[in-house]
This record gives sequence, structure tokens and C-alpha cells, in this order.
Amino acid sequence: MTAFDASLLPASATLDAAGRVAIAGVDLASLAERFGTPLYVYDEADIRARCRAYRSAFGDGVAYASKAFLCVAMARLVHEEGLHLDVASGGELYVARAAGFPPDRIVFHGNNKSTAELRGALEAGVGRVAVDSADELERLETLVEAGLPAPRVHIRVTPGVEAHTHEYIETGNEDSKFGFGLDSGEALAAVRRVVGRGVLRFAGVHCHIGSQVFRLDSFERAVDKMVGLVRTIEVEVGSPVEELNLGGGLGVRYLSQDTAPTIEQYAIAVHEAVGKALADAGVRSRPQLLTEPGRSIVAPAGITLYTIGTIKAIAGVRTYVAVDGGMSDNLRPVTYDARYEAFLPARATSDRTTLVTIAGKHCEQGDIVVRDTPLPSDLAVGEVLATPVTGAYGHSLASNYNKVTRPAVVFVRDGAARVVVRRETDADLVRLDADA
Ligand code: LLP
Repeated sequence: MTAFDASLLPASATLDAAGRVAIAGVDLASLAERFGTPLYVYDEADIRARCRAYRSAFGDGVAYASKAFLCVAMARLVHEEGLHLDVASGGELYVARAAGFPPDRIVFHGNNKSTAELRGALEAGVGRVAVDSADELERLETLVEAGLPAPRVHIRVTPGVEAHTHEYIETGNEDSKFGFGLDSGEALAAVRRVVGRGVLRFAGVHCHIGSQVFRLDSFERAVDKMVGLVRTIEVEVGSPVEELNLGGGLGVRYLSQDTAPTIEQYAIAVHEAVGKALADAGVRSRPQLLTEPGRSIVAPAGITLYTIGTIKAIAGVRTYVAVDGGMSDNLRPVTYDARYEAFLPARATSDRTTLVTIAGKHCEQGDIVVRDTPLPSDLAVGEVLATPVTGAYGHSLASNYNKVTRPAVVFVRDGAARVVVRRETDADLVRLDADA
């Protein structure tokens, strides 16, 4: 029997004598009753604590990567906690602005920003643009020459570092659609151009080696290469480098057996690596270290609640437990073969003696939420089932596949729950249909 591992839940989690799980003083199963399922539940204090951990380790150098989970309430929370915001499209910028996020604290990313997106960003007064390509540099310069305010720019660099994560989310290799190659000299050429033309304000260099990265030595190798670039810029371009942005990517524990570095361990490792590399390289610049975490701020704070709709036991093969969501609310298993755990929030301590596979309700065999996970043998239709550590890239990758409506998002805090994103209705499914 595998016991339920409460360490995958936010620190506020409590378990009563009957095995009922509460988060921030709010009983999870009763949230399912009150708001329906599937439901994304976030422990607000847990998100805030992670923002604070980053802030205390990196000062004013933290931008939350909004792609991990964004809504108006989240953007406001991030601002209240003193973080900058990374947006990677005009749409993310729109939501940030709808939340009243100060534009000068927004970093604009994306490998293919359109002229319209760039114009919108400059008109809004976005503080920093991470420039990804030569075409983008040209577009930006043209916009500024036409009278728009010049942003601070970071040159996005692919440092040629292996991140040891899923290949779909590995982004620092030379063979990448992102950024300017370091080894090829393209990154240096881009910096030279920005500084030489003097149209944009050169602020620094950026790299992001990948996501769900467990190995601190991958970040350390990226630091070495980036500091090498800082030195080359100083010597060959004659420009100081004010900011060194190391992107995001810190991995989180999804399973009991995972071990992930803490935010503090990550911060110590990269600070030490930067200090050492700067000293070794004899660099004069003391660039401010910036970081852009997404997953490690929101993933552990989120739990998804489902209702079991049917159970199919195939003798000698496996038992499928089907829930009322699936790949439309968590695309990660089907995309990255991502693994999760599951528990019953109304009786988390019941014997977990049977291995089952939790399936979604979509028309694909690959629509699996959790493969081979231990749950009680007397599992019943109608019970609420929860998957922990689902706060990142769940809601943001959600779809209406099979015209399933997307779940609501609830924040819990101090014994109270509030809806921050409403559940879609059937009417939303035809809202954009011209002939409806
Ligand atoms: N900065 C940049 C430039 C990025 O591209 C990303 C993530 C981040 C920061 C934040 O990375 P994080 O701290 O969240 O690892 N959908 C995938 C993850 C894609 C990550 C894309 N970029 C997943 O569900 O695993």
C-alpha cells in the first residue's frame, strides 16, 4: 500500500481524523460541491510565499513568467508581491494591462513578435523587450525611429547548454527556434548592432535553457557561457552589461520520489556561479541578475479537482477511472508524458491498495490524467478526485477540445474561497460563431 503523500500539497494543507483534506482552511471536497468540477484550486498564500522567496533571493530582479498561469487576479498578486511580469504575446500583455500591471515592469518576450505586437508594447510603455531575432531588431528600430519610446532591450541568447529536460521544453540549444546563437557569434553581432546604432537602449543579455530543470549544474554552465559573453561585450563592443537575465526553468516535485532544488538552493547556486565567473573572467560590469520563474511559483500551489464518472475494470489488464476533465484541462501528460499523483480529498487516508489509471473524457486513448496510481479499492463513481501540483501550464494550456467548457479557477486564503476565473458556459462555446 502506498500512503498519501501530503508533502506534494501546499504547506497550509491539513488532514482531519476522517482523512478530509483542507487547503488554507478550506475543505477541498466541499469546494467541488460548491463550484463544480473540474476545478483549479490555488492556495494564494502559497503563491505569495514563493514570490517572496524569489524576491528575497533576487531583490528587484524577478519577473514572473505569466505563461505558466495568468489571469487578472494573478497579475495583481504578482504586482503586490513586487515582481516584474514576463509576457510572451500581445494577448498576455493585454491581460496584464487589464489587471493594471505597470507597463514599465513588464518584459516582452516571444520568438516571433509581430509589428503590431511590438507597436502595442512600445505604445503601452513596456519596460523591457527581450529581442529574439534580427527581423525583430529591425522592426523595433523602425518603430522607435518613427517616434515610439525606446525600450530597454535584452538580446536573447541560445547558449548551447543542455538542460536535461523534455526535448520539447529545452530551449538553450544551438538548434533552437529561439534567440541568437552564442557560439555562432550572432548574439555578439546583435549586441554590436544595438549599441552601434544607438536607437534602442541596450540593457543586457538573456537566456532560458529550458523548463522543469532539476540540475543546478545546467544553470551553472549557462552562467559561465553568459558571463563569457558579458566579457566579450565589454572588451569588443566597449559597452557595460547592466542586466544578466537567466530566464526561468527551475523544476518542481510532481511525484513523491522527485527531488527538486528549492528556490533558495537555486538562488545560491546561480549567485555563486555568477560571482565566480565574473571574478574569473576579470569582468568590470556587475550586471544585476534577473530571473523569470513560472512553474516554480505556481505549480505546487495548484490542485485540480475532478469527479469520477465511470470505472471500467478490465480483468487482468487495468482499471480505468474516468473523470470529468482530462487533456482539455491538463495537456501535460499527453504532450510531455508528464506524471502526476492523485488522492481522494474526502478520504485521503483510506487504504490505497489498487493501481488504477485515471482517464479523461476526451475521444482519445492518450487522454490519460494519471497512469498507474494507487487509490482505494472501493473507489466509487461520484467521488471527488484531486491531482496535486497542477498549478502551472494547466489552465494556460487548456482548450475546448470536444467542446468541453474550461474549468473555473478558485483562490483559497484564510478559510475563504473566491472565484478568480469563472467556469465557461455552453453559451461561451458559440460566442464567437458568426452564425450562432
Ligand atoms: N522565460 C522564458 C523565456 C520562457 O520561455 C519560459 C518558459 C519561462 C521563462 C518560464 O519557465 P518555467 O520557470 O515555468 O520553467 N508547457 C511546458 C512548459 C513550457 C515552458 C516555456 N517557457 C510544460 O507544461 O512543461
